[in-house]
Amino acid sequence: MLSQIKSIVETITPRLIEIRRHLHSHPELSGQEYKTAAYVAGVLSSCGLRVQELVGKTGVVAELPGNGDRRLLAIRADMDALPIIERLELPYVSTQLGIMHACGHDVHTTVGLGTAMVLAQLGVPLPGPVRFLFQPAEETAQGARWMIEDGVMEGVSAVLGLHAYPSVPARTIGIRYGALTAAADDLEITIMGESGHGARPHEAIDAIWIASQVVTTLQQSISRTQNPLHPVVLTIGQISGGRAPNVIADTVKLSGTVRSLHPDTRHHLPQWIDNIIAGVCQPYGAKYEINFRRGVPSVLNDPALTELTARCASDALGREQIQLIHEPSLGAEDFSLYLEHAPGTMFRLGIGFTDRAVNYPLHHPKFEVDETAIAAGVITLAYASSQYWQSSA
Ligand code: NI
Repeated sequence: MLSQIKSIVETITPRLIEIRRHLHSHPELSGQEYKTAAYVAGVLSSCGLRVQELVGKTGVVAELPGNGDRRLLAIRADMDALPIIERLELPYVSTQLGIMHACGHDVHTTVGLGTAMVLAQLGVPLPGPVRFLFQPAEETAQGARWMIEDGVMEGVSAVLGLHAYPSVPARTIGIRYGALTAAADDLEITIMGESGHGARPHEAIDAIWIASQVVTTLQQSISRTQNPLHPVVLTIGQISGGRAPNVIADTVKLSGTVRSLHPDTRHHLPQWIDNIIAGVCQPYGAKYEINFRRGVPSVLNDPALTELTARCASDALGREQIQLIHEPSLGAEDFSLYLEHAPGTMFRLGIGFTDRAVNYPLHHPKFEVDETAIAAGVITLAYASSQYWQSSA
């Protein structure tokens, strides 16, 4: 099976590079992936898969039937790009000014398509069915939710995914047991004081002064009240309030993002934030409102499926091509929403150039991909998929 997969991948690699370059030069923003979706659907149909378009708004789903085993394996790839002005000089540079595939989702889509091509060309059906999920709007953390609302996880027994990673060298696969990414929630705080003359603070309740204490108290409290082994990052990224230099502000709005790794920590965050803000506001008579919106949970990789991916990547690419990831990232990934419906695992696809001193990070205007990563990604994903029904996962 492995040698057959490798030989198919070798044959289709030039086509995959072509597909990736097409996607790269025609990026589309989250929720607007119309042309990308049509292109993906075209490639999938030409492989003989049953294709459904407009799933989860601009998503595409395709199915490959199996040979009787009812366990359904899902493979997820995201398709959207970012509002970034590309600063690379490539023959296949973005043709859409201000939009760039700077998170490697063009590579994810290509690897997903490559895996579909390989599994469709095996000649014999796999033991069970495979469902390919080409998801829109990952960058805005909406797409997975849209897809799930349209029923894509019905009947799914396991889900596999990948994310490109520039600090991992191309042709290497990063494997993480346990938490890969953090939970990300949105926070909005409104502090309500009382306006007054800038020269008469004793007759007013200064919302700007109180808001600045809220920010510092939240930051300091993390280090004194949260378990340092269960990280919390709270970033206030926006602050606004006040009307004039000589008028004490009555209202200040703060908004930010809260990242955490442990479900228990995450569960307690709204109450913890409320207690701290109450403690700051009460002595001065200020009022407050908190809007804590749950975003996406942490990606918690399933042990057996992670083991399957690691073993298949090692067999296919060589043991030295496996990099165990020792620390989770506090970035967020809406792949975690699929994991609320079935166990799954996400691996990191190395895309870094080994002969360069600098590989620019994800979301950078000079982010670039070593395209030899594509074949490694397809071999890993196709082989791990083919072995799913024989594994203990
Ligand atoms: Ni991404």
